[in-house]
Amino acid sequence: MNYTISQITANVKKTLGSKFSARELDSQLFLIYEKILNLSRLNVLAYPDTKVLNSDYKQIVNIVSRLSKNEPIQYILGETEFYGLFFKVNQDVLIPRPETEELAQWIINDFKKATITLLDIGTGSGCIAVTLAKEILSSKVFALDISEVSLKVAHENAQMNGVKVNFIKQDILNAVASDLPVNLDLIVSNPPYIKKSEMILMQPNVLDYEPPLALFVDDADPLLFYRAIAKLGCSLLKPGGALYFEINESLSREVFQLLESFNYYEIAVKNDIHGKPRMLKALNYKP
Ligand SMILES: C[S@@+](CC[C@H](N)C(=O)[O-])C[C@H]1O[C@@H](n2cnc3c(N)ncnc32)[C@H](O)[C@@H]1O
Repeated sequence: MNYTISQITANVKKTLGSKFSARELDSQLFLIYEKILNLSRLNVLAYPDTKVLNSDYKQIVNIVSRLSKNEPIQYILGETEFYGLFFKVNQDVLIPRPETEELAQWIINDFKKATITLLDIGTGSGCIAVTLAKEILSSKVFALDISEVSLKVAHENAQMNGVKVNFIKQDILNAVASDLPVNLDLIVSNPPYIKKSEMILMQPNVLDYEPPLALFVDDADPLLFYRAIAKLGCSLLKPGGALYFEINESLSREVFQLLESFNYYEIAVKNDIHGKPRMLKALNYKP
């Protein structure tokens, strides 16, 4: 017997209803139908009595079973959307987050028509670097990560989106300026910033599947990455060049003071759409 879309939807809601909100489930179901049945949201809603092939049904059952084990839908489907672009993702890279889209949006608003050279530090899936390369047409983009496997995914994402990004494998905590591109107009970074003590507050879909290297820092020194990048930024950025960070909402004051201590100026903290201080911009000292 072939099930219809509406029968499958009802079954999935029964199976996963206690795990996800109705909104989360709906959006996951639309993604699944789009990927497996190649049907848009509109078609799913318009034709709920469409019969689903057995082979497709088996794939959907498999996805639902993985969702029930907390695996993120983005890893299951192998892709996600960021700033209207598609990105390949797997467990080697962090799943791009909406607040990071807001950071990219801030930069695009500031530099859309400029000719700039920029460096994305801790590029992961390449979501920031690729988006900026696509949106700021006259940009030259460098992106670095310590993780070889992340860089492989980021490279595929640059190709998939038809942009050129120069990738660098580097440990930013042990880098010196001569290892890196200089005379930059802009550095952007969404570095690891979650304190290990905050792990207990986190959901299993993150803890069990996303790469710890992308997420956590020791409680003893949560500003580790910001300090290293701010220090390097003084030599890598042109005078007046801009540094943009995504930040932990609990550390905005500390990152602000850190940047002041390196003589950055016009330091501005920006709230995300939920009103939380999640981004910061500063300009490199002009002698
Ligand atoms: C929070 S993730 C950000 C990923 C991506 N930019 C995004 O916004 O979705 C931090 C990234 O920093 C990288 N990273 C961790 N330690 C690093 C280090 N010492 N040097 C360079 N990159 C590092 C991780 O591999 C990870 O890709």
